[in-house]
Amino acid sequence: MSQINDMAEMPVQHPRTPRSAAEARGRYFNSGNAFNIKLPPVPRKIFTDEPARALAKEATGFIECDLSGVLQCPFPATTPLMLARYAVVKAGEHLDCTFNATASIWYVIEGKGRVEAGADGADIGKGDVFLLPGGVPAAIEAQEPCVLWAVGNDPQLAFDASLPGTAQGAAVAFVHYPADEIEHQLSVVYGADANAATSGHALIFSAEKTEAARNITPTMTLSLNTLKPGSAQPPHKHNSAAITLVVAGAPAYSMVADEKCDWSPWATLLTPPAARHSHHNDGPTRADFLIVQDGGFYYHARTMGFEFY
Ligand SMILES: [Fe+2]
Repeated sequence: MSQINDMAEMPVQHPRTPRSAAEARGRYFNSGNAFNIKLPPVPRKIFTDEPARALAKEATGFIECDLSGVLQCPFPATTPLMLARYAVVKAGEHLDCTFNATASIWYVIEGKGRVEAGADGADIGKGDVFLLPGGVPAAIEAQEPCVLWAVGNDPQLAFDASLPGTAQGAAVAFVHYPADEIEHQLSVVYGADANAATSGHALIFSAEKTEAARNITPTMTLSLNTLKPGSAQPPHKHNSAAITLVVAGAPAYSMVADEKCDWSPWATLLTPPAARHSHHNDGPTRADFLIVQDGGFYYHARTMGFEFY
């Protein structure tokens, strides 16, 4: 057997003669081999097949934007900590939306129906946003065929093998943000002047339980960003990953790490952590895009790393 001289090349070390099952579970690495795991980077990506399949409304169910293979995650994931998916509910049918996530953030692309979340619920329609807490049974029932988009932190919980809090101790409650209220709240934002420290006119969604942190859930943020015709959001970067739903805007595009990503209706754009990016509206009408980030996680850890270029 050849001698290994470089500690970085050494295999895992096991206990010599464990005296118990607990001792036998110990493993040892060293300062050379413990930190040289090369994880595949989060790619830049625009999902267009998934929305096309969802909008075909062939069957009730989920269409995940799953990059677990690329990311080498043993569970479905769009980014290491978040999973985006489209949901289809055919008229008269229902879809179970009980996820192992702290919460999931939803947007109604089209249709009409009702969402139930434990003892709570609401009638929902096009343009509505709602927040579903994890850990309580939830379902959507469609009166008219529904297509929805949802992002949850399921991968965060899967990574840690954890479960959402109980109803009493839950980090989030069911919240409904109706489309007309969103438009009104955005008009209030448009009524105020933007300054150099803000990046365009955006409506940030928060909730009673997370108001102090100005987030929608402890680890996720939700923003409806808008760009006036012929305007652009300046290049910037942050350590949070961003999952963006294209709501309106044509022609519009994003630059992500110097690569142009053309928007198409209801596409999902993945912006990798720390990638330089900017959003551009070349069209004659307002561009709207809904952005979910794992930003709460980075704010809390004091590692957001936001910078304009
Ligand atoms: Fe950004």
